[in-house]
Amino acid sequence: MARHALFFILLLSLAQARAQTPAASATPATPATPVSSPAPVAGAPKQPGAIAAKVTFSRVNVDGPYIAMTFDDGPSGGSTNNTNRLLDLAAKKHIKLTFFLIGENAAHYPQLVQRELAEGHQIGNHSYTHPNLAKMSDEAVRSEIQKTQDAIIGASGYKPVIMRPPYGSMTARQRIWVAHDFGFKIIIWDVDPLDWKRPGSSVVAQRIISATRPGSIILSHDIHSGTVDAMPQVFDALLAKGYKFVTVSELLAMDKGPAAKPKKPAAAASPATAAAIPSSTP
Ligand code: NI
Repeated sequence: MARHALFFILLLSLAQARAQTPAASATPATPATPVSSPAPVAGAPKQPGAIAAKVTFSRVNVDGPYIAMTFDDGPSGGSTNNTNRLLDLAAKKHIKLTFFLIGENAAHYPQLVQRELAEGHQIGNHSYTHPNLAKMSDEAVRSEIQKTQDAIIGASGYKPVIMRPPYGSMTARQRIWVAHDFGFKIIIWDVDPLDWKRPGSSVVAQRIISATRPGSIILSHDIHSGTVDAMPQVFDALLAKGYKFVTVSELLAMDKGPAAKPKKPAAAASPATAAAIPSSTP
């Protein structure tokens, strides 16, 4: 077997040598390093995207059935009383949620901000006026975020440590400096029921229930009555499946790091594969 393999490799080398142009034959006959997997260079500058990825979370790799349900754009008061209705439902089931607040709304409904915190939920920063931050100057982004921090602190004394950009939209460079300057983790999501399109409560519920996995960060909006109406069904179904609702920071604290990638089959150029070829060749 080993001799066959050696012979085969010799044949291959001869064939390659023959195929090469005179100029190319000056280079070693061993295969060139694949372009797709360059060797890591110590001290090489990392890409902004790689650094931004370390401060950005769309889900968390956890060891148990833990999930974080998040509600954006509130607090929502007035006649719909959406945020209070949601807080009542969560209290009834002893469920912890996370609210990404719009600064304007926090300033308008300080009692709702206080209630969210008093009942053990987490609050994060979702900008002051809900713009697309990726299209704004650093100065304007800083102002949107700082004004929201100030509004939440003014309403409750609490200083948020997580933020979610409106539309999930922020450049890698922005995420790096915002995370650094404000001490934030940037939170996106992995489950999106598109509830803002108001597809109806049962559709919102079904989408969340079917897409949620351990470690999921679920996006919803407590400014929509239909979303709040969907929550009794969502809470009951996810609790029945054994899920445990925690805040975003509690979920992040359970992070085991990046999930291990499934093992790839042996590369075609590996010795084992090369040795196997002659035996199956007439
Ligand atoms: Ni939003």
